[in-house]
Amino acid sequence: MTQTIPTGNWHPASWQSREASQQPIYRDQAKLEDSIAQLSQLPPLVTSWEVEALKGHLAAAQSGEAFLLQGGDCAESFADCTSDFIVQKLKILLQMSLVLVMGLRKPVIRVGRMAGQYAKPRSANLETKDGVALPSYRGDLVNRNPFTPEDREPDPTLMLRAYERAGLTINFVRSLVDGGFADLHHPENWDLKFVGDSPMAEQYHKIVESVSDSLEFFESVTGDAMHTRRVEFYTSHEGLHLPYEQAQTRFLPHRQRWYDLTTHYPWIGMRTIELDGAHIEFFRGISNPIAVKVGTGVSNPQLQAMIHALNPQNEPGRLTLITRFGAKHIEEHLPRVIRAVRSTGTRVLWVCDPMHGNTESTVEGYKTRRFDNIVAELTAAFRIHKEAGSYLGGVHLELTGDNVTECIGGSSGLTEADLARAYKTQVDPRLNYDQAMEIAMLIAGYVRANG
Ligand code: PEP
Ligand code: CO
Repeated sequence: MTQTIPTGNWHPASWQSREASQQPIYRDQAKLEDSIAQLSQLPPLVTSWEVEALKGHLAAAQSGEAFLLQGGDCAESFADCTSDFIVQKLKILLQMSLVLVMGLRKPVIRVGRMAGQYAKPRSANLETKDGVALPSYRGDLVNRNPFTPEDREPDPTLMLRAYERAGLTINFVRSLVDGGFADLHHPENWDLKFVGDSPMAEQYHKIVESVSDSLEFFESVTGDAMHTRRVEFYTSHEGLHLPYEQAQTRFLPHRQRWYDLTTHYPWIGMRTIELDGAHIEFFRGISNPIAVKVGTGVSNPQLQAMIHALNPQNEPGRLTLITRFGAKHIEEHLPRVIRAVRSTGTRVLWVCDPMHGNTESTVEGYKTRRFDNIVAELTAAFRIHKEAGSYLGGVHLELTGDNVTECIGGSSGLTEADLARAYKTQVDPRLNYDQAMEIAMLIAGYVRANG
């Protein structure tokens, strides 16, 4: 099925005639225009072949034949664009995907919140400290975190620095994945040094052994080497900063369609889903697979109108809905949202983000999430979809391969008192290695037990 090419009233800058929320205020318009012009000339970070291949995989997940694992930092930082951090993130996602493949017996689509997750929505334009008000930190693509007037001034040239970091990240990831790092014959490549004797690592290694045994058995019986050298890995980020996305949006004559080539799979965050707003306007015209975050504040008519605007042709794999209600509210909202979508006759891919509806603050002021609430929302999502005759086709997580202490709970028993030890996130709290692996194992176990 083909999507109608948006013509006439849509072009990559048509969002500019709408209200654009969560955008920085740049004082120097000429400098902004210059950065957009430079970015428009630079080569794309992804290609339409990859983007269309991903759309095909997402279409399979939509019909229950695959499962999406999407994860990474809440906000990437320029400082973390290092060999170690990139490899660690890739390793944890590969390890989790192996656990999911074994548990679900389905292909797993691996998508990082990586190579472009540099712009963040904030609850206020200004942050005030000791009577001084400065622009809020909106991610490394926009301004800098330290609380000084110079650092907080939005700087349009940071868009170019973000593009470069994204390019360096995706280059390294592609090269690792294509070069054999992800080869199932060598899962020892993905071991993380610090995990040592963590209970999750032990369980994981048992799974690895059984994969290796099966591979060896199969290859000795068939006399063929399994083609396991290469896995596919895709990128995603919140398509929040519209000048950045616009500058890398191209019309491809061989497809007769527009693509946002900053990433394979951009999403619209919960704070920018106004129906007549700039983000919906921008996203409706690009041909990438896209996702929308859905929280408790989204009404059924709003959701239905949004689906109509973003996927009028009911194109398979085009639209993902990432629900993020929180453990307390999912029972109330998910069933009505599933019914509302069903009544449009449009197919979507359903994904659960059990992180963003479960954020809380401790008395010491740490933003955290309780592992139990994350698991509760996730298992409720599986159950509610099943009861409704629907399919939960993926999970969206904030995680890191690093050994941080940002979320409370899990098998290693992190408590509030542990948070100060290794609290490193720039924005939201992430699952650490143990917690992320435990989630993968719980999903695998839950699906095996409940179908
Ligand atoms: C995020 O994914 O980091 C985020 C801000 O999520 P949401 O839009 O769901 O609040
Ligand atoms: Co976040």
